Amino acid sequence: MYSTLVLLPFIALANSAALPPVDLASYVLTSTGETNGGNTFPGVSRPLGMVKLGPDLYSGTDAYSGYLANGNFTGFTMLHESGTGGAPKYGVVSQMPVVGTVNNPLSDAINDTRALPDYTEIGYYKASLGSGTVLEMAATNKAGMFQYTFPSVDKDLNVLVDVSHVLSSYRGQGLEQHFLGGNITVKEDTDAGHYYYTGSGTYDNGWNRAAPWTVYFCGYFDAPASFKTFIGTSLNTSTLAAFSNEETSYSSKTARLGALFTFTQTSVTSRVGVSFISESQACANVNAEIPKGTKFATVYQDTRDAWNTQVLSKVTTTETNVTKLNQLYSALYFMHLLPTNKTGENPLWKSSAPYYDDIFTFWDTHRCTTPLLHILQPVFYEELLRSMIDIYSHEGYTSDARSSFSNGAVQGGSNSDNVFADAYVKGVRGKVDWETAYASMTKNAEVTPDNNNDPRDPTGSTKEGRSALPDWRQYGYITPRFGRSVSRAVEYAVNDFSLATVANGLGLQYDFKKYLSRSHNWRNHWNTNMTALGFSGFLGPRNTSGFISQDPLSCGGCYWADLYYQALPWEYSFNAHHDMGTLVDYCGGADTFVKRLEMTFQPGIYSGNRAFGSTIFNPGNEPSFATPYLYNYVNRQDLSVLRSRFIAKSYYSPTQGGLPGNSDAGAMESWLLWSMIGLFPVTGQTTFLIGSPWFTDLTISLGGGKKLKITTTGGSENVYYVQSLKVNGRPWNKSWVSWYDIFAKGGSLDFVLGSTPSNWTTGPTPPSPGSVSATAAEQLLIDMSKGASS
Ligand SMILES: *[C@@H]1O[C@H](CO)[C@@H](O)[C@H](O)[C@H]1NC(C)=O
Ligand SMILES: *[C@@H]1O[C@H](CO)[C@@H](O)[C@H](O)[C@H]1NC(C)=O
Ligand SMILES: *[C@@H]1O[C@H](CO)[C@@H](O)[C@H](O)[C@H]1NC(C)=O
Ligand SMILES: *[C@@H]1O[C@H](CO)[C@@H](O)[C@H](O)[C@H]1NC(C)=O
Ligand SMILES: *[C@@H]1O[C@H](CO)[C@@H](O)[C@H](O)[C@H]1NC(C)=O
Ligand SMILES: *[C@@H]1O[C@H](CO)[C@@H](O)[C@H](O)[C@H]1NC(C)=O
Ligand SMILES: *[C@@H]1O[C@H](CO)[C@@H](O)[C@H](O)[C@H]1NC(C)=O
Ligand SMILES: *[C@@H]1O[C@H](CO)[C@@H](O)[C@H](O)[C@H]1NC(C)=O
Ligand SMILES: *[C@@H]1O[C@H](CO)[C@@H](O)[C@H](O)[C@H]1NC(C)=O
Ligand SMILES: *[C@@H]1O[C@H](CO)[C@@H](O)[C@H](O)[C@H]1NC(C)=O
Repeated sequence: MYSTLVLLPFIALANSAALPPVDLASYVLTSTGETNGGNTFPGVSRPLGMVKLGPDLYSGTDAYSGYLANGNFTGFTMLHESGTGGAPKYGVVSQMPVVGTVNNPLSDAINDTRALPDYTEIGYYKASLGSGTVLEMAATNKAGMFQYTFPSVDKDLNVLVDVSHVLSSYRGQGLEQHFLGGNITVKEDTDAGHYYYTGSGTYDNGWNRAAPWTVYFCGYFDAPASFKTFIGTSLNTSTLAAFSNEETSYSSKTARLGALFTFTQTSVTSRVGVSFISESQACANVNAEIPKGTKFATVYQDTRDAWNTQVLSKVTTTETNVTKLNQLYSALYFMHLLPTNKTGENPLWKSSAPYYDDIFTFWDTHRCTTPLLHILQPVFYEELLRSMIDIYSHEGYTSDARSSFSNGAVQGGSNSDNVFADAYVKGVRGKVDWETAYASMTKNAEVTPDNNNDPRDPTGSTKEGRSALPDWRQYGYITPRFGRSVSRAVEYAVNDFSLATVANGLGLQYDFKKYLSRSHNWRNHWNTNMTALGFSGFLGPRNTSGFISQDPLSCGGCYWADLYYQALPWEYSFNAHHDMGTLVDYCGGADTFVKRLEMTFQPGIYSGNRAFGSTIFNPGNEPSFATPYLYNYVNRQDLSVLRSRFIAKSYYSPTQGGLPGNSDAGAMESWLLWSMIGLFPVTGQTTFLIGSPWFTDLTISLGGGKKLKITTTGGSENVYYVQSLKVNGRPWNKSWVSWYDIFAKGGSLDFVLGSTPSNWTTGPTPPSPGSVSATAAEQLLIDMSKGASS
């Protein structure tokens, strides 16, 4: 009953069986992962778009993406994140429809219930409010469209613009965002009685403890209105100081402010642009992207077209199982929401380099997301690298994380190093200034960042760099005087291997040897006396007196100031992916290594992971992403297939609650995509571990007309063990391929699948460049970069 004339055709289109095959957008279920801790953003966004327009709900709990399944609407806002934890960020540049007399626009009573569940699809979001108002939303990169259908009632029909609206945090860690002041001005548009408003709001904090930042806005209405501007008495109360149309403009650093527009017609459309540069740029953005008179349906269709052409059509298949197509295209969608392209919108410095923001975080995304974005979006990827370098050049650090133009928060190591190394070994050059990229890496590796006094870990900076460097450099291990000492040690080792890799490529042999040697320092944490479940030898805490006893199946609080961050010693003890040869030896050789991996996936072992059958393995967290594939290092590829398939099929589904943890800016979805593709990237190396593809055929467009074509024969839902493989038409007996085998110039993978395991991986195991002598490693890195594997 709330549907409008414009909406009906969309729903019909989305559900129609007679869709043209090119409309891959219809397979994307934009509600996937919005509940059950997935925290995905279900609103409207273009690929990597700056604007993410959607609802903000209140129900006394942190609404990370703005969305909650329950609670009341408090606003509909233009900036959001997707899939994060920590504390909410953004939820700014708000409009809120209100039916009836508004006596105090700053009152908490300005909220509304849901009359129906929200409706979402690519390019479109609809909220049906208890007041009888229906709000439909569409968006471009830097602007959005709100289409109101108010109820036919004899009451005021209002749209409230509250500049002080932000997403709140209720977890009490001092991470909550603050409104710090703003501006609003209401002006008459060229049409008599039509108004538009411009202004800005300044905010701080949120997820990454950000410095104050400002967003400018410019909003137009297409209907006649009356208006009142308002200003409160302070930043933290809802007491009004003024509420009238005598002042059309307010500016305040000490009070909340906004404007209320009252309409006499039930159908009202608003176009709003945002900018981080100026009000006039916000107006220019909306007038360029959604010019006056633009139909809502046009903005909607353009968004779908953008997703189809820029993202979804890069991966095609003749598969007809709709569930699998939903999973494939929804996962592609969610891994393209962040980071956001703010090129031309960086308020901090002028530069010819691109600018990308909202990196949540490389700790989450360097394993699966950035290597896949490299393949699917090579143009974007080069822009991202240049942006990272530009940020280093102007601010001194490329951080593990960044949002609203502020670095932070670093989860573990300096994982931008791994992103750079991954791009370097895979031959990304273009306009990337590798000397400066490498300078950012040595800064991370050598210069301890200033402490930003994050109460979660007061022992050092959580903003950027590697705050435990003093120990790492002096001792070659990290003592508990630094938070997350053990988990960061293994990450710092991987980061140092990334430096060694790029140094080798740049001909810096002194640095190569130095960082290769430092990349072995994870070994200094290997405590052979730590035992669990019949296995001995794990990464453990130590200080200058020696090892400190530790249960391999406990990470204590598993938080910022603890010994291990968000994962067990058992899990982190698999994470020296550059030095797998040594790791397998330390675990007691290939057979014991396989048994230890098998124990990781055995149900009923670790009650901390009850949601996942009480396995030690936690599918919802990034430190475990590679673990199901590590069997390939000892040529038990069959078990990699068994375990990774089980995880993908058990813990992921294209449903609201269908992710095993926070999406983490698409990290979870990209893990799933690699499972479907049948490969797993070893970030920082050219190696891809081979799994088992889900589809009879999958074609990935690599740019420049190059393609990777993957086929399987003999497989089905329950038949997935690899029997044999041809790479570029030639029989293959290795459990891995190199970038240069199939991606650099394109290629093909043709799998034969069967219902029982087959030990087809009789060839050399994947390279372990950190496990050989410096001379051998140097040669191995050169060979890997040339694709000498093939
Ligand atoms: C939602 O709004 C309804 C109606 O105004 C109100 O009774 C209820 O308390 C609100 N819920 C919350 C969580 O604020
Ligand atoms: C929502 O409004 C109702 C009154 O309509 C009020 O009782 C409630 O506290 C408000 N909720 C919030 C979260 O402001
Ligand atoms: C209002 O906007 C002007 C111009 O953009 C700016 O200089 C001023 O700081 C803003 N005031 C507040 C309180 O944000
Ligand atoms: C409210 O804001 C004022 C400044 O406007 C400040 O002095 C006061 O401490 C704040 N009160 C609270 C409870 O945050
Ligand atoms: C379609 O795919 C889903 C998800 O992988 C699977 O559960 C289902 O069994 C498949 N259906 C058929 C008919 O193969
Ligand atoms: C990023 O935004 C800029 C400015 O709008 C644009 O020129 C560039 O093409 C965008 N990059 C990608 C990968 O879309
Ligand atoms: C392991 O324990 C034994 C016996 O307590 C001790 O002698 C040895 O030094 C320990 N090894 C390590 C690496 O701590
Ligand atoms: C190392 O840790 C052990 C166990 O907590 C403690 O007894 C010892 O004093 C510590 N040594 C140093 C040098 O801090
Ligand atoms: C594969 O080889 C391993 C030992 O290398 C053996 O335990 C396993 O049974 C073999 N599997 C098959 C299917 O031959
Ligand atoms: C693996 O394949 C290579 C290349 O085809 C071949 O030379 C080699 O003999 C094979 N190794 C085994 C153990 O089958």
